[in-house]
Amino acid sequence: MASLNDIRSTYLDFFERNGHRRVDSSPLVPRNDPTLMFANSGMVQFKNLFTGVETRDYKRATTAQKCVRAGGKHNDLDNVGYTARHHTFFEMLGNFSFGDYFKDQAIAFAWELLTKDFGLNKDRLLVTVYHTDDEAAGIWKKVAGLPDSRIIRIPTDDNFWRMGPTGPCGPCTEIFYDHGPSIWGGPPGSAEEDGDRFIEIWNNVFMQNEQFADGTMRPLDMQSIDTGMGLERIGALLQGKHDNYDTDLMRSLIEASAHATNTDPDGPGKTSHRVIADHLRSTSFLIADGVTPSNEGRGYVLRRIMRRAMRHAHMLGAQEPVMHKLVAALVRQMGAAYPELVRAQSLIEETQRLEETRFKTTLDRGLRLLNDELDRLPEGGALPGSVAFKLYDTYGFPLDLTQDVLREKDRAVDLQGFDAAMEEQKAKARASWSGAGGAADAKVWYEIAEAHGVTEFLGYDLEAAEGQIQALVRDGAQVGSAETGTSVQIVVNQTPFYAESGGQVGDHGFIRTATGTAEVTDTRKTAGVFQHIATVTEGSILRGQPAKLEVSHGRRSAIRANHSATHLLHEALRRALGDHVAQKGSLNAPDRLRFDFSHSKGLTPDELKSVQAEVNAFVRQNSRVDTRIMTPDDARALGAQALFGEKYGEEVRVVSMGVLEGSAKGTDGNTYSLELCGGTHVARTGDIGAFFILGDSASSAGVRRIEALTGAAAIDHLERASDDLHGLLARLKSPNAAEALQKLDNMQAETRALQNEVAQLRREVAMGGKGGGPEARDINGVKFVAQVLSGVSGKDLPGLIDALKAQIGSGAVLLIADTGAKPAVAVGVTEDLTGRISAVTLAKAAVEALGGKGGGGRPDMAQGGGADIALAEAAIKAAEVALGA
Ligand code: ALA
Repeated sequence: MASLNDIRSTYLDFFERNGHRRVDSSPLVPRNDPTLMFANSGMVQFKNLFTGVETRDYKRATTAQKCVRAGGKHNDLDNVGYTARHHTFFEMLGNFSFGDYFKDQAIAFAWELLTKDFGLNKDRLLVTVYHTDDEAAGIWKKVAGLPDSRIIRIPTDDNFWRMGPTGPCGPCTEIFYDHGPSIWGGPPGSAEEDGDRFIEIWNNVFMQNEQFADGTMRPLDMQSIDTGMGLERIGALLQGKHDNYDTDLMRSLIEASAHATNTDPDGPGKTSHRVIADHLRSTSFLIADGVTPSNEGRGYVLRRIMRRAMRHAHMLGAQEPVMHKLVAALVRQMGAAYPELVRAQSLIEETQRLEETRFKTTLDRGLRLLNDELDRLPEGGALPGSVAFKLYDTYGFPLDLTQDVLREKDRAVDLQGFDAAMEEQKAKARASWSGAGGAADAKVWYEIAEAHGVTEFLGYDLEAAEGQIQALVRDGAQVGSAETGTSVQIVVNQTPFYAESGGQVGDHGFIRTATGTAEVTDTRKTAGVFQHIATVTEGSILRGQPAKLEVSHGRRSAIRANHSATHLLHEALRRALGDHVAQKGSLNAPDRLRFDFSHSKGLTPDELKSVQAEVNAFVRQNSRVDTRIMTPDDARALGAQALFGEKYGEEVRVVSMGVLEGSAKGTDGNTYSLELCGGTHVARTGDIGAFFILGDSASSAGVRRIEALTGAAAIDHLERASDDLHGLLARLKSPNAAEALQKLDNMQAETRALQNEVAQLRREVAMGGKGGGPEARDINGVKFVAQVLSGVSGKDLPGLIDALKAQIGSGAVLLIADTGAKPAVAVGVTEDLTGRISAVTLAKAAVEALGGKGGGGRPDMAQGGGADIALAEAAIKAAEVALGA
């Protein structure tokens, strides 16, 4: 028996053999569609190829596409478990032609694969075509030899496929398998078509039109093919089963569920096992594609599916979390075809366990409340909306979970009552924020949050995505459009732009619509609503338009590198300086990073160097950066470093990077850095490129600040430093730094020697050259020498004074240095006269006459400073007067 894995391969191999490029499934979160919640058919990733907006280097493709139909327009959640062919997750096999082959070749391929490779009995196959499509009917006759009775013309939209209200579309032909008269049901188009006898297995769409929002439909320039075949359906057929849940793959998951709950896979809990097997697939694949459980948008759809599965595990009597134990079985089955499942296995397991552990605490209590209420209701009466709301609001029961419980008891929920209770709660929230004084600015954001919900952030995985413009805000008020040149804040339902928080700056980039372009110069958020702060640079931007959002790639990469380097720096500092090192603030900008941390003294050059070396060692390790979601308590138990000032909701993201080798293992095994963080990070530490510390300074009391560079900025900085060094070496005519330093030392010694020589020469000049000296006058019986010297400094004077004192033998000497700035004064008196005359008195008199103040020293030597050299004569006079002239 061919397994589902074999059948998938047979399909892809067949089309690859026939010139098709084998393309990977796109992620479940669509990148190129503004409104689609999850990929729900194979053509989603090729949408723009059909319309000709985009071209690639292939014209034929084949895929096995992951699809989720829950929460959006196609919502199969409520039926899963109770029917043979409903799934929240399924795989769609498809072959595509983009303006290459068309109807005849598509039909020929389909017929050959089904009847030859898959070996289906031709007599059991029949097809439908759109009622006007004579061409398709003719091809079926010719290629497959089908009689008219087995080519059924359908006049409804069932045979005109559209991806949504807009986009590529066209007539289609569907292929059915007839299980024979032993099973009830009629052919397509008949009154009994909903029976199980005739099962649709493959849809071939002839893409030839495009549907526009204004209701018009125009032919496409090229004719293309889009097909879709559910792997589970064809698998059931080829394995001789009538129920998708009996195929090998689904059965192995059902058995894993039975094993984990110690129950019979086909006993009274059969439905629950089917629910668990299906939900295990959708939830695990969603988590692997970056969705995390939350109370909004995609995260809430995930949470609803997870909680529905948990209720069924609970019904099977499971006391402990179950879903996380089944992930390994899923990875065994599907990991080879979808490697992302293998990569994300631990993330999936932890996310499942966390959600289940949390929900367990309220599930029991909620179910008890629900049963008590039901006991009180009259036979068949609907559950009051207020009770369903309480279950939702207090016990975390999504509405569809309550409905699932009631379904078993043939009851319904009073939906009007539920909506009224929800509205009342919103009104209360509104009253509380509109009453909060000073929040006038914020009001518009709360209004938008209430009308549209919070913005979904896609930027952990994406830098470009499509979104729908929900609001435009100018000067605090909503507007319908913004024209070229205007500044506007743009709100989109989902965005890859990171809004400033946790020290990481907001993203820049472009938002483009069919009518205009806006340049985004910052991104912020209030009340969960992201504001793209932008200027319209071309045309106009209108509320309600679909838009392409592009984050500036280089800038974001640089920010990511700085943010990840900050985590490594934090850990390196903690290890080098001690556990008291805690983050006090940070900035992760594109051009640099700044990290403030508690530590009382400056880092020594050796400490800085070893911290820098340790960070660079982990950069070179190039290990994967992992992100997990967990409760704050679990994260702390692992030893995660909490971020400064960050407010945490119910779950936290834990970012880990770096692998410790040898025995240096931390709390979380061999992880080096573990932090709670909502920011964006590199995929591998090697993406940081390089790390260079610019310096360490004091930020405030007890807080140090390190500024550093990474990647290209670090290299640029070092390159500039290297250029400077080479400039210096060239100037010093040295081949290397060691020789240059030796040369500098020599030059400095030489300079010092020359300076001494110059000073000596100046002294000699001042003293009148060899042999002669300044004239000594007799003042009041004392020999007095006074002179103004230029070209000497104040500190030269004492030496000159001593020399003159020796020359005259007995007397007083006054020297005034004309320094160019403030004149300096020195007075000397020989030992024999100090009993009578004080150098201090003479100096003070001279200084005062020079316009200065003070002057002091000993009776034999005193100094001071004047203000104006032009008064030098007066100063000499004053000294003479002080001598008693
Ligand atoms: N896109 C087509 C479908 O989903 C093939 O049925």
